[in-house]
Amino acid sequence: MIILKTQNAIIEQIIEVKSAGKTIGFVPTMGALHQGHLALVKKCVAENDVAIVSIFVNPTQFNNADDLACYPRNLDADAALLENAGCKIVFAPNVNEIYNEQEIKKPFEFDFQGLDTVMEGVFRPNHFNGVVQIVSKLFLLVQPDRAYFGEKDFQQLAIIRLMTKTLNFPVKIVGCPIIREESGLAFSSRNALLTEKEREIAAHIYAVLTESKTFFNHTSVEELKSCVTAAIERKEPLKVEYFEIIDGNTLQNIEKWENSDYIIGCLTVYCGKVRLIDNIKYV
Ligand code: PAF
Repeated sequence: MIILKTQNAIIEQIIEVKSAGKTIGFVPTMGALHQGHLALVKKCVAENDVAIVSIFVNPTQFNNADDLACYPRNLDADAALLENAGCKIVFAPNVNEIYNEQEIKKPFEFDFQGLDTVMEGVFRPNHFNGVVQIVSKLFLLVQPDRAYFGEKDFQQLAIIRLMTKTLNFPVKIVGCPIIREESGLAFSSRNALLTEKEREIAAHIYAVLTESKTFFNHTSVEELKSCVTAAIERKEPLKVEYFEIIDGNTLQNIEKWENSDYIIGCLTVYCGKVRLIDNIKYV
């Protein structure tokens, strides 16, 4: 496995891989890798000749300076995990290698066709502008045949699919199921910021979501939202930022269960200072 830090180095490698007629699989990450990332990497290794992983904590998708500063970083540990998982190339550039000053200051423009008017788009202004900005740059550099994203970031996955279609990237987007700790807590780089006690408490989020699946259609959509929110907040210090019940394609809120045949419940919960996201498929 090689670790590359510059655009020139990755371009050179891509030319070599492409001219050998090999397929490229790509997993973009912000590092602090966990089992969820490794599941993406293993699938990527299995389905492509060369698996490439990027590690880049993208400043333009953070709307909170503290959140960016606290984001866990550990390149050496990440590299060891990736080598073990069969990754061939790690692309780990620094910020100046990717952006000029102007690009960092001004939000990247993209027509989200309404996909950004809900959930993360509301609570993290310009977050998805930054995601589309970095993923489009990485796609141009890495030129993958397939790119792998987790379904935990449900809205991000929908936006990446839209971006790929709108900008005509010849890349197949592969969505991968959420991987959970034994307790049910979805793997996330942010879990590393939880204390042991908070980590135990955070498992309550998935327990409530799973329970809600057993009775969701015996209640109205609005009642389910209140019920899930109250049940989660019963355990301190959990605080629900939003719990939306949406159509899985348009991401718009549904009012009645019969309004869609693909329904997802998406939420963000603060466990103390740590922001966790999760989702569950109802239909
Ligand atoms: O999901 C993430 O880790 C990031 O949003 C991504 C896709 C790597 C872009 O920075």
